[in-house]
Amino acid sequence: MKILAIETSCDETAVAVGEGKAILSNVVSSQISIHRKYGGVVPEIAARHHLKNIIPLLRIALDEAKVSLEDVDVIGVTQGPGLVGALLIGISLAKSIAYTLGIPIVGVNHLQGHIYANFIDNPELTPPLLALVVSGGHTELVYQSDWGEFEVMGATRDDAAGEAFDKVSRLLALGYPGGPAIQEAAKKGDPNSIPFPRPLLDEGFDFSFSGLKTSVLYFTKEHKIYNRNDVAASFQEAIVDVLVIKTIRAAKKKGVKRIALAGGVAANERLRQKLEEVSKREGFVLYKPSLSLCIDNAAMIARVTYEKALRGEFSSFDMNAVPNLDL
Ligand code: KG4
Ligand code: ZN
Repeated sequence: MKILAIETSCDETAVAVGEGKAILSNVVSSQISIHRKYGGVVPEIAARHHLKNIIPLLRIALDEAKVSLEDVDVIGVTQGPGLVGALLIGISLAKSIAYTLGIPIVGVNHLQGHIYANFIDNPELTPPLLALVVSGGHTELVYQSDWGEFEVMGATRDDAAGEAFDKVSRLLALGYPGGPAIQEAAKKGDPNSIPFPRPLLDEGFDFSFSGLKTSVLYFTKEHKIYNRNDVAASFQEAIVDVLVIKTIRAAKKKGVKRIALAGGVAANERLRQKLEEVSKREGFVLYKPSLSLCIDNAAMIARVTYEKALRGEFSSFDMNAVPNLDL
């Protein structure tokens, strides 16, 4: 089964070609440098750049995979969650190609894609597993009992983890995107220097990071002179602590042995390191995608498309973008 996969949910335009479970090509064009001057993704600009880039990327992905468009058996495309104008570029292209070639189309949930990135790097991995999905828009603890079967055990009540990284980075004038900027500053700081709160630590599986962000704001207002690297390191440690403790608690509750990291924040070195340490100590096996599969990409969409196509779970041609699509 040859798969063409398209991802345009936010600010990366991405196309991948897969054959069964294998990924033959995976190309991404990031718009980070375009949105940097605005300090965040501007939806209208993102959509326009997707439109400009998507056809050239499609050509590159097919060339790299040595697959011609006529050989493609099924098209997978991100249906949501994401920015509606951005999603529509990918969906319109996917529908046009599928209709022209007379092949089926599969609408894919972006968050499911992030989780399935783990199955690309680890072919031996299968459900059941507990996934921590941490991205710019989401923070969710997801129990995956089987292929395509998800239970969201907890989610953020306000800011997503990535959003908190981005906002604190802006507050500290560390740059955009915030996650990598905080991570680099934190390497030069002391993570134990400022006791920022660990929100909702003892309460269930939900998260709340907006209060933590406000604590950082108050700290910077109270202390006119402070070490930015210490603030970054202490903030990162607080957020990582909460994510790690809740993930382990959720995995224990479900009695699973496998934990999977997913989403853009899964690229965070401290999170990867600490979750690895604690997972080992507590008897869990941690799976984490390689860095290029943590950020938004279409290989993860191809992997979901394969599983859904195997089961005949195709979408109709009146499929639409769903900006707040749930797992
Ligand atoms: O999954 P993703 O690429 O896009 C969404 O689906 O939202 O995630 C983007 C988020 C941004 O908030 C970015 O700051 C964060 O992932 N991020 C990181 C790191 N790299 C990216 N957060 C912490 N540490 C990182 N190294
Ligand atoms: Zn994402």
